[in-house]
Amino acid sequence: MLKNDLYLRALEGKPVKRPPVWMMRQAGRYLPSYLKLQEKYDFFTRCETPELVAEITCLPIDELEPDAAILFSDILVVPRAMGFPIEIVSGSGPVFGKTITKPEEAFHFDALQALESLDYVMQGIKATLQKLENRVPLIGFSGAPWTLFCYMIEGKGSRDFSKAKAFCYQHPEAAAHVLEVLTDIVIAYLKEQIRSGVHAVQVFDSWAGLLGPEDFFTYSFPYLKRISEEVSEAPVVLFAKGAWYALEQLAWSTQASALSVDWAVKPEYARKATRHGITLQGNFDPSRLLSPVSEIREKTREMIRRFGKDRYIVNLGHGILPHVPVAHAKAFIDTVKTYGEAS
Ligand code: CP3
Repeated sequence: MLKNDLYLRALEGKPVKRPPVWMMRQAGRYLPSYLKLQEKYDFFTRCETPELVAEITCLPIDELEPDAAILFSDILVVPRAMGFPIEIVSGSGPVFGKTITKPEEAFHFDALQALESLDYVMQGIKATLQKLENRVPLIGFSGAPWTLFCYMIEGKGSRDFSKAKAFCYQHPEAAAHVLEVLTDIVIAYLKEQIRSGVHAVQVFDSWAGLLGPEDFFTYSFPYLKRISEEVSEAPVVLFAKGAWYALEQLAWSTQASALSVDWAVKPEYARKATRHGITLQGNFDPSRLLSPVSEIREKTREMIRRFGKDRYIVNLGHGILPHVPVAHAKAFIDTVKTYGEAS
């Protein structure tokens, strides 16, 4: 039995005294304890070693005590398992040793074999659950097909992922094929994570907002919808960053349990667009954690008032930034944990 199930209660839409809180990328580079491990082991060694996964996942739980843990891993372990060599270059991000450049190359992937080589993630989940000792739920995750596709075509981060978009416009059948295969893999991968014990899963479509509404409904939405329908064994949270125009359809035409929203969306708009029918997660501007602590506290309370304490999970609007002082992240979390006590 979980000692703290606030996060799961919020996903189920049950009433809570205060909303749960966790931070996207909470196990990352702003934590000095993480940086020490970063010096010792390279990135994918950290992802592939169950003891390190468990240790890193629990660092923010021990130090900041949020209401949920997110497995330490990366969305790019999936393309890596599909045969794309990847290096994480410090200061600049992921660099692929191979990309899809021609439509012919889009038809060569074996979904099931890729999944077999991700068994280390399942071992990481099991080790993490032991170390967590039921303190809080464990969130599993995957990249969304569109966001993974972006990296597989572009080969690195990009301001506009225009190569990925051009590939879609020039080779629609090949693009659709890759997106379908990715969807099959993501579904199987998330189901396997749930079988290994994660309590909920989040799908990160970090680059959804680079697509205009029409393209989003062609290249992203159908796949997110299928994932939400087929992964029925645990709650699914969809984070289509930047796709504010799709909130209503994401809420009402998918089987998601919650939607994560970025900071460009007003709480009132998000509630209205989703007709108060789904749990929302977000949406503190990650840069706002660089404000003075008194302002962080004030703005966090204001955000809770605006979203409402029920059917709500406090989070950032995107991942925490590397230069955020730990004390500021702690102030954010503590403000939520004492919400409603004394003002
Ligand atoms: O709390 C956590 O940190 C959980 C683990 C986690 C990581 N990446 C670890 C990581 C999660 C949930 C991710 C998701 C992820 N990875 C996304 C989706 C969310 C988002 O932020 O949009 C994306 C787009 C990636 C791809 C990726 N991985 C990038 C762009 C980078 C380099 C830049 C960066 O964000 O730091 C990575 C590397 C990476 N993944 C690091 C960490 C902690 C930093 C590298 C390191 O620690 O050596």
